[in-house]
Amino acid sequence: MKTRITELLGIEHPIIQGGMHYVGFAELAAAVSNAGGLGIITGLTQGTPDKLANEIARCNAMTEKPFGVNLTFLPTLTPPDYPGLIQVIIDGGVKVVETAGNNPAQWMPMLNEAGIKVIHKCTSVRHALKAQTIGCHAVSVDGFECGGHPGEDDVPNFILLPRAADELTIPFVSSGGMADGRSLVASLAMGADGMNMGTRFIATREAPVHENVKQAIVAASELDTRLVMRPLRNTERVMNNPAVERLLAKEAALGADLKFEDIIEEVAGVYPKIMMDGDMDAGAWSCGMVAGLINDIPTVKELVDRIMAEADSIIHKRFQGFYQD
Ligand SMILES: Cc1cc2nc3c(=O)[nH]c(=O)nc-3n(C[C@H](O)[C@H](O)[C@H](O)COP(=O)(O)O)c2cc1C
Repeated sequence: MKTRITELLGIEHPIIQGGMHYVGFAELAAAVSNAGGLGIITGLTQGTPDKLANEIARCNAMTEKPFGVNLTFLPTLTPPDYPGLIQVIIDGGVKVVETAGNNPAQWMPMLNEAGIKVIHKCTSVRHALKAQTIGCHAVSVDGFECGGHPGEDDVPNFILLPRAADELTIPFVSSGGMADGRSLVASLAMGADGMNMGTRFIATREAPVHENVKQAIVAASELDTRLVMRPLRNTERVMNNPAVERLLAKEAALGADLKFEDIIEEVAGVYPKIMMDGDMDAGAWSCGMVAGLINDIPTVKELVDRIMAEADSIIHKRFQGFYQD
C-alpha cells in the first residue's frame, strides 16, 4: 500500500509503532521496521545521550530499514539533555523523530538541518495545525481512546480524524484505539494516511516487556482503563489496578487541592517495576481502550501482515461486494 506516509518515511506499510516508555527498546523498534512499518525507540527511557546512542546502535545492528526515536518534552524542573539526545539521533543516522508532550519548535532547526522527518503527536486539531505551521512533516493525531496522554479535550477519533483531514495539508496518521485491518481502513476512510499503534504492539512476542504485561492486556476488556491525573490537567489513560483505585480515591478525596506529591507513590518510577519485573500492581501504567480488541500475542510480522491482509480483504472483497448486483 502506498500513501503519503509510506512515501514520506520510506516504509512499505502505513503503520507506525508509537514511542512507549520502557517498551520502545531496540528489539521492538527493529521488529516493526523489519515487518515493513516504522518502529520507534523511546528516547527518554534511555535518558542520557550515551545510553540513547547505544540503543540506536543496537537498533541499527538489528535492521537496515528506517526507524525513529520518540522525544517526549516533559514539563520538569530538571529537563533531560535534549540537545545531547538530538545530537546522538543525528549521529546515529536516524531518519525520523516522533515528538510529543510539547511544541517542538525550538528543536526544528537542528532536526531540519540533519534532514530528519518530524512527526508530532498531538491530541487536538489546533495543536496539529500549530505543528504544521512550525514545519513538522506529519502529525500523529491521538484520539480520546488512546493509551497514555489523551489531552483534556476528550474528542474521540470518529470526530477528530475527519476534523484533522478537513484542516491539515501535511500527512497525518490516526492514533488511539487502532488494532487491526478494520482500524487501518477506517483511518484511511476518514482521511488519514496511515495509523499509529501503541498498546497493540505491547502484546507481541518481540515487545521486550514481562509476560505479565502482555497477559494483562489480553485479559483486559475495553472497560478496564481509567483516566488519572485529570485534576492536574495531565490526564493519562491507564490500566485499572489496585494502585489506580487508590490514586482515584485520593483524587476524589482531595478534589481541587490535589498535588502531584499526593499521588507520587502510584505514578513515579513505576514503569521498570511493571514492564521489567511484571509487578502489575506497582502503579499506574498507560494502556488504551483498544485492549478490548487484543486477544493474542503474535509476532510483530504476523500482526502487520494480518493487518495488511485484512485491510486488503475489506477494500477489495467487502466493499466491492456492496456494489455487485
Ligand atoms: C505503556 C505506554 C507507554 C507510553 N509512553 C509514551 C511516551 O513515553 N511518549 C509518548 O509520546 N507516548 C507514549 N505512549 C503513547 C503511544 O505512543 C501511543 O500514542 C498510544 O499508545 C496510542 O494509543 P493506543 O494505545 O490506543 O494504540 C505510551 C503508550 C503506552 C501504552
